[in-house]
Amino acid sequence: MLAAELKKITKVYPGGIVANYEVDFDLRKGEVHALLGENGAGKTTLMKILSGCLKPTSGFIYVEGERVEFRSPSDALRKGIGMVHQHLTLIPTMSVLENLRLGLVGQRFDMRRMLTEVEDLSRTLGFKVRLDSPVYALSVGERQRVEILRLLLSKARILIFDEPTSMLCGPEIDRFLALLKSLSYKGYSIVLITHKIREAMHVSDRITVMRMGRVVATLDKDEVRDESYLVELMVGERLVPAVANARPSHSKEALLTVKNLVVNDDRGLCKVKGVSFELYAGEVLGVAGVEGNGQKELVEAIAGLRRPVYGEIIFERKNSYSGRMNYIPAERMELGVAPTLSVAVNSVLRRFDDEEFVERGNFLNFSKMNEFAKRVVSFMNVRTPSLKTPVKYLSGGNIQKIIVGREILTPSEVLIAEQPTAGLDAKSAYQVRKALSELASKGVGILLVSSDLDEILELSDRIAVISDGKIVKIFEKEEADPVMIGSYMLAGEGLGHNVRATVSTD
Ligand SMILES: Nc1ncnc2c1ncn2[C@@H]1O[C@H](COP(=O)(O)OP(=O)(O)OP(=O)(O)O)[C@@H](O)[C@H]1O
Ligand SMILES: [Mg+2]
Repeated sequence: MLAAELKKITKVYPGGIVANYEVDFDLRKGEVHALLGENGAGKTTLMKILSGCLKPTSGFIYVEGERVEFRSPSDALRKGIGMVHQHLTLIPTMSVLENLRLGLVGQRFDMRRMLTEVEDLSRTLGFKVRLDSPVYALSVGERQRVEILRLLLSKARILIFDEPTSMLCGPEIDRFLALLKSLSYKGYSIVLITHKIREAMHVSDRITVMRMGRVVATLDKDEVRDESYLVELMVGERLVPAVANARPSHSKEALLTVKNLVVNDDRGLCKVKGVSFELYAGEVLGVAGVEGNGQKELVEAIAGLRRPVYGEIIFERKNSYSGRMNYIPAERMELGVAPTLSVAVNSVLRRFDDEEFVERGNFLNFSKMNEFAKRVVSFMNVRTPSLKTPVKYLSGGNIQKIIVGREILTPSEVLIAEQPTAGLDAKSAYQVRKALSELASKGVGILLVSSDLDEILELSDRIAVISDGKIVKIFEKEEADPVMIGSYMLAGEGLGHNVRATVSTD
């Protein structure tokens, strides 16, 4: 019997956007079913319908052969369906533990049992979770882990993950995928939305590809000839050679100097423990590390969002016109965009003091703003109904494209790029890497923080490995290899053993 089935699902959003059109989708018991497709293809919409977050405009939902109608996510949870969302849904001011508990509302609750389960799960997954920490103090990757834990703790038997690995790093991804596999052997049925084709090939039994609101194909894994075949199905054309990394060698002119930097997190714990480095003009300096090792606090200090306890950050504007430091934050919805404002306004966000867009008397020049927004939209191929559309109505990847486009097209001397391609489809991610590489050739210094080691290796001239708040090694491009980097990444973690949930009861 099928675990769940969607028949002829059509979803028209207010405003007339057809996000799903007559979609058929089925989920077998005990399978991992990957859902692939370009940004804006309709994946999230379809799974929100299956998990009761959205009502279809027309079409039918069956769970274990029985026709159902959901009025809310908790309706769906009662039928055993739960979802981890692309944009996280935790409550920032509450602790991790409280958030986990919230996921279990309506079930009989036993704190002791929950703590044991959390600890077991964290151990299996190799996640470190600070249960007493407020969620706002966690990095995006850490929040993602909490969401995953929360779903696994609920009694759902159909588990839907919307891009769960986009902010996790290599070893964490492997453990997570292994867990998915073992859950499926235990009879859980799993939908995995992802842009990582290799990941889909690795873990899934079947793969469904969507394009422009429709299902293009559902394939058994064995039918998939190779990765490029899937890409072709997704975007309707053959893609892309790897980024040619033929940048001239960078200069030794330091644009940004960080000296003995010490930074605390929101709880006053020291997360950056004396970091020094220089970022040169025209280079990409990659920062590799397991999430939670101080990257977040380091970047926030440099971006001016967090006051360091000690040390210096020296950024001398060399060029008065482009003398800016631009920032692509990992926290898209909180720091990257103002979700209720339009695509146009979001394209010039943080430039309200820029002569280019502000006229005398401090009025925003709308035609200039729209002109620039058009450039962002066409440069990144953003799929949006209009420039006036509030950003929150776009798909996750399209929101990311606006942030990246804005920060790349706004002249700067230094660009801090935190997880720049997380959530982007293969084609868009390729475009972004290419654009970053071109930007560096023009002399911009780029600090690239990414959980994707392949991306770091592809783009970086030098690679700094951060572990337990310290830069433990800086590799030159030629000497960098993934295994070495991996071992330095885990250096501060006792090589990855003893990773467990820390339970504090004060
Ligand atoms: N709340 C909303 N209101 C109006 N339109 C929406 C809303 N949410 C999504 N859309 C539109 O529906 C289409 C499908 O979006 P959806 O989020 O399902 O795509 P997706 O496949 O998950 O993309 P991504 O890979 O970028 O996350 C997009 O064109 C998007 O602009
Ligand atoms: Mg989505």
